Amino acid sequence: MTALSRPCLQQLAPSRATQRGRASLTKPRHLRSVVLASTTQALAIEADRLSVSFKGSSGHKQVLKRASLQVPEGSFHILLGPNGCGKSTLLRALGGLLTPDSGTVMVNGPHGFVFQNPDHQLVLPTVAADVAFGLGRLRLAADDVNRRVQQALRAVSMEDFADRPVHTLSGGQKQRAAIAGVLAQDPKVLLLDELTTFLDDDDREGVIRAVKGLVGGPSRVTALWVTHRLEELPEADGASYMEDGRVITTGSPRGIAKHLAKLGARVPMLR
Ligand SMILES: Nc1ncnc2c1ncn2[C@@H]1O[C@H](COP(=O)(O)OP(=O)(O)O)[C@@H](O)[C@H]1O
Ligand SMILES: [Mg+2]
Repeated sequence: MTALSRPCLQQLAPSRATQRGRASLTKPRHLRSVVLASTTQALAIEADRLSVSFKGSSGHKQVLKRASLQVPEGSFHILLGPNGCGKSTLLRALGGLLTPDSGTVMVNGPHGFVFQNPDHQLVLPTVAADVAFGLGRLRLAADDVNRRVQQALRAVSMEDFADRPVHTLSGGQKQRAAIAGVLAQDPKVLLLDELTTFLDDDDREGVIRAVKGLVGGPSRVTALWVTHRLEELPEADGASYMEDGRVITTGSPRGIAKHLAKLGARVPMLR
């Protein structure tokens, strides 16, 4: 099945612009052929010309400016860009946490969102209780809940922390517990917003290792990893670079590193 013939499992409600013309739900012919020619793998995420603006005291500010992004299924994809360029806004639009003014989103399969600050995501006193929290709405038998919690904790190497009070964890352990909370719900796509911002190097490595362990495994989980840390680039299967509300370029980590070096950035992997 080609990427474009896949069902849109998460199609955002038509926005003002799409309601008017519906045009943005269909790709122009030339774009369609480019996508088919360049994509050998199915896509887990496809955002097409998303625009988002926010109302502020000084009027509307356009934060996403026809931003488009494609992420192959089963990949660890990094979204890089300077602070304020719109990375979190794009991720939130992908996760259905905000509705764009125009453009379309396809996320192929259930998704889980993990925020920059785990203290905003972990709400219950112990790790196991927290990981089980999101399962409440599924009305599972207690055995199934326990099994899913254990599996999710194992997947991020946190099985020994099940009974630990959340406040005794390090930042990286909290992030891994937050990821487990999302994993227990069996997502196909992980949307991960700057998980390593507040972490030291050891914790950072632990979180990256945990996410990489989930990607490309039998369940073909896809991770979109937002960061502004260039040193994380070599970890990725692919990467995109954003600037001022647009995705400027997408390619291999090395290709993106070279692009950034041309812009004047000191990229550790090219040293
Ligand atoms: N809810 C909001 N209301 C108003 N402005 C916002 C809102 N969310 C983000 N912004 C603005 O949009 C711009 C991009 O923000 P963001 O997507 O968080 O960037 P990044 O994640 O790349 O740092 C920033 O200028 C930010 O202040
Ligand atoms: Mg952000």
